[in-house]
Amino acid sequence: MAKQEPILKAEDLSKRYEDGVLAVDHLNLDVHPGEVYCLLGANGAGKTTTVNLFLNFIPPTTGTCFIKEIDVTKDPLEAKKYVSFVSENVMLYGNFTARQNLDFFAKLGGKLELSKEDYHQVMRRVSLQERAFEQRVKNFSKGMRQKLGISIAIIKDAPAILLDEPTAGLDPKAAAEFLEILNELKDEGKAILMSTHDIFRAKEIADRVGIMKEGRLVMERTREELQYEDLVKIYIDYMRAEPLTV
Ligand SMILES: Nc1ncnc2c1ncn2[C@@H]1O[C@H](COP(=O)(O)OP(=O)(O)OP(=O)(O)O)[C@@H](O)[C@H]1O
Ligand SMILES: [Mg+2]
Repeated sequence: MAKQEPILKAEDLSKRYEDGVLAVDHLNLDVHPGEVYCLLGANGAGKTTTVNLFLNFIPPTTGTCFIKEIDVTKDPLEAKKYVSFVSENVMLYGNFTARQNLDFFAKLGGKLELSKEDYHQVMRRVSLQERAFEQRVKNFSKGMRQKLGISIAIIKDAPAILLDEPTAGLDPKAAAEFLEILNELKDEGKAILMSTHDIFRAKEIADRVGIMKEGRLVMERTREELQYEDLVKIYIDYMRAEPLTV
């Protein structure tokens, strides 16, 4: 199969925060349709900053993030059409029910024709319990919020999905179900970029794994390469190695 253009692409991307911290350091990274890319790295390695740069939540110091070849700083509204975001702290409206949140975000994304049954169907798909469908989300547990977050992403049907530690704090069954859904979305051709600390799950789900250290991508391996290598050992070796010199 001819390799398609990447949906997500970071080119020479750097971010130095106002206080001088260089969180991302000349990063080059791409994610293709139908690919899950897992970003590993110690606390403070720059994973969340990378995701936030793709979402144009913060401006880069150098370089560019592209979503479907759209420069996210030059054309943020157009770029946002093609990406969904699920974070550890999903933004939801507490006084709305689960279905109302879905309806709100669907309409925001331009999906105006969806019925109550469509919303229920997607909430069933992510295994949110039926009784929660019409409940206000303010008392939802973390896992319930995550599930609703991924259902919003499913409804939006964007070609790129960004996830910042999506399984952090999920119970094992919920985490397994969550990753199963990501696999389905990948099979539908989505480009998925996910930061995680879960090396084992990363190995299971990722088509490519990158390790970030001090803002740099210090290692990248494909699923095929990882069949013959021990990802945990690779990770620990990189963490133990000398700090990178700036
Ligand atoms: N808003 C900010 N202002 C200043 N420095 C920041 C800001 N956000 C993050 N940093 C710094 O940037 C570096 C990278 O942080 P980032 O949150 O991207 O790491 P991370 O890889 O997501 O870590 P974790 O695994 O803990 O989530 C850290 O040194 C952090 O202190
Ligand atoms: Mg983070």
